[in-house]
Order: sequence, then structure tokens, then C-alpha cells
Amino acid sequence: MRILFVGDVVGRPGRDAVEALLPGMRERLDVDVCIVNGENIANGIGITPRLADRLLAAGADAITLGNHAWRREEIGPYLASSQVVVRPANFQTSAPGRGLAVVEARDGTPVAVINLLGSLFLDPAHSMWEIVDELVDEALGATPVVVVDVHAEATSEKVALASWLDGRATAVLGTHTHVQTADGRVLPGGTAALTDVGMTGPHDSVIGVETALAIRRMRTGMPVRFETASAGVRLEGAVVTCDRETGRATAIEPVRVPWP
Ligand SMILES: [Fe+2]
Repeated sequence: MRILFVGDVVGRPGRDAVEALLPGMRERLDVDVCIVNGENIANGIGITPRLADRLLAAGADAITLGNHAWRREEIGPYLASSQVVVRPANFQTSAPGRGLAVVEARDGTPVAVINLLGSLFLDPAHSMWEIVDELVDEALGATPVVVVDVHAEATSEKVALASWLDGRATAVLGTHTHVQTADGRVLPGGTAALTDVGMTGPHDSVIGVETALAIRRMRTGMPVRFETASAGVRLEGAVVTCDRETGRATAIEPVRVPWP
């Protein structure tokens, strides 16, 4: 089974790239199931119900989020009723939505999708370490194919989580930094890991933001209204190959596709 994970879709350029590229990529890469991180799709920050529906229509089977999940208030009720759009599981217990979804791959195989938030700079309500074992057990009750999106700033947290889940999760894939890392590997127990899958959006930028605006804010320390950049658009992510019976991964390949 082949799982395509698409990294953080940023703003309109990212959305346009997904809508243009994803249907063809699903064919060409022989993808059985596709998961997309969509937390930056609404003007670079947050997601709306309409944009979530567009990602699903473009070929995402599940959508994961991150620290900006609540930036658009209207997503709350949508998450409360969605079975395929997940937010980090370690938000407040009362937050709408869920951190685990089970979706169907092309052949009907169930695929569990878990979303977690790291601690550094992101201040989750609970440490992901306090809930991850129970969550993975719940996922394994439904299917051996378990994909974890660990949305985190620190490489150490993401690398540590991949090792902790080795042999239990099919893949532990990092998101949030918007810079693809070169450490894709299958760990000894059969868990595919990549510290960050990268960004689907404008790469001639500072992680998606117009370069001059990001630098001005850093240089002056003054508030600067950020705008999403537009040039150097790429779809980035990873393809994980796994055994659908055991859930063990056999390969992980990074994906970087320029658009247009
Ligand atoms: Fe993020």
C-alpha cells in the first residue's frame, strides 16, 4: 500500500498546487491513500470549512492540522462533525473535533490518522507523550496501518516520537517547520520516519511569508502584517510504502514537485 502525505499547504499558491497536481500524482505514484496537512491554507494561517472541503475534493482522504487550527473560528463546528479532518489530539479535552480518524484507502483498507502537537513554542494543553500510547492503541484496534502527523518545531521531539512508536506506527511524519528534511528512513521495527515533510506553497519566501515582510519584522521587532508569498511553488511531502496486513513500512521517499 502506498500512502502519500502532503506537507503544510500554504495559502492560495499551496491550494492551487494541490488542486492542479494531486489528481495526477495519485495516478502516477499509485497512491492508495492521501493525507494532507491543511493548517496554513487560509491565507497562510488556519483553515475554513470551505477550504477543507476543497482539499477533500482535490483528492485528500484525510486532513491534519496543527497549532493554527483555531485561527478561523468557523472550523470548530465543522471539526465537531467531520470524520476525516483531525486536529491535534493533545488540545484541551473540551475542544471540538478529534485527533484520530480512520479513513478508507482505495481498496477499503482502514488507515488510522493521528495528529499530535509538539511542546516547544506550541504550548499544547497536554504533552503528546501523555496521550500517545492510548491513542495509538485505539488506532491499532481499528487497523495495523497507522500514520502519525507530529506537528512540532523541535526536531528532537519528532525524532524521539518516531523511535518511541517504532514497530507500532506505520509512519511518523513531521510537519510545521515548512522545510523538508533529508532524513527519511525506515526504523528497525518498520516505522517510516521523516522529521519534516516540507511545505506545499511558495518557497521563494520565509517559510511561506513574503521575504521582505518577514525580515522587516525580525529586524525591527515591530508588528508587520504578513502576506503569503507567491513564487517558487512546490508540492512537498512523502510517499510511504507499507504492508497492508502488518502495517510495517518498507520504504519512504520524499516528494518535491514544482508547480506550475
Ligand atoms: Fe504550524
